[in-house]
Amino acid sequence: MWKDFFYKNEKNENEKAFNTINAAKLPTHIAIIMDGNGRWASKKGLPRKMGHKKGVSTLKSIVHTASDINIKYLTVYAFSTENWKRPLTEVNFLMKLFSYYLDAEIDEMYRKNVHIDFIGGIKDLSLGLQEQIEKARKKTADNDGLHLNIAVNYGGRDEIVMAVKKLAQMASDKKINALDIDAKMFDDYLYTAHQPAVDLLIRTSGDMRISNFLLWQCAYAEFWFTKKNWPEFMPEDFIQAIMDYQKRDRKFGGLNV
Ligand code: IPE
Ligand code: IPE
Ligand code: MG
Repeated sequence: MWKDFFYKNEKNENEKAFNTINAAKLPTHIAIIMDGNGRWASKKGLPRKMGHKKGVSTLKSIVHTASDINIKYLTVYAFSTENWKRPLTEVNFLMKLFSYYLDAEIDEMYRKNVHIDFIGGIKDLSLGLQEQIEKARKKTADNDGLHLNIAVNYGGRDEIVMAVKKLAQMASDKKINALDIDAKMFDDYLYTAHQPAVDLLIRTSGDMRISNFLLWQCAYAEFWFTKKNWPEFMPEDFIQAIMDYQKRDRKFGGLNV
């Protein structure tokens, strides 16, 4: 239960003051750029792949926390369209890790009522991984708890171009009138069709950039950065990000008077 999650306010440590998140003001959609696996490993003198392995444990615990506190949508960046530039050994290791993660976690996620989805160019992945993804999607399709989007071979620019192509094709087939295209219609042709926009974007490991993640969906997202690397990111940090989000003044271009 979300009530079980406390975050100790360091300023008032002696007074044993605790803050909790406000369940009435939860971000509906949280996105995470899970960055810093390699740096975490290097700092410890370990190979980069150990960082990715530890990063999977972090993902497990954050998915559980998000589900426990009733977050509706969580989108995690696991592999970008640009990550293919990495050495083949690292790419292959990451692909194996996704496969392992799905295998190991699917039953538990099913029990936790998590609806698993994948966003990105799934067709470019190995057939084995595509089958696993399809199986996970099907198995959890009727779950109505946390909606977890795992972004694999995902790129925000590719996603936008994909939507443009679909709409252009429909216009040329006279199924729609090109002049009727608006932001709402466009939104329905993205991987995240029918999902709410991102409220809170978290990035670990100190870099303050978006790296081609959810470019359209983050139009009015609140950004939250931490220097901690993803393998050392804890449920308490996730709760802290939400508490900080709850203090932000979101205006969407208007005035809060
Ligand atoms: C994030 O960690 C995981 C992926 C991009 C797959 P990195 O592998 O980018 O770790 P750093 O940024 O090199 O430390
Ligand atoms: C973003 O991290 C992609 C993922 C976390 C999967 P990168 O490590 O690829 O981003 P850059 O290269 O630092 O911008
Ligand atoms: Mg990185």
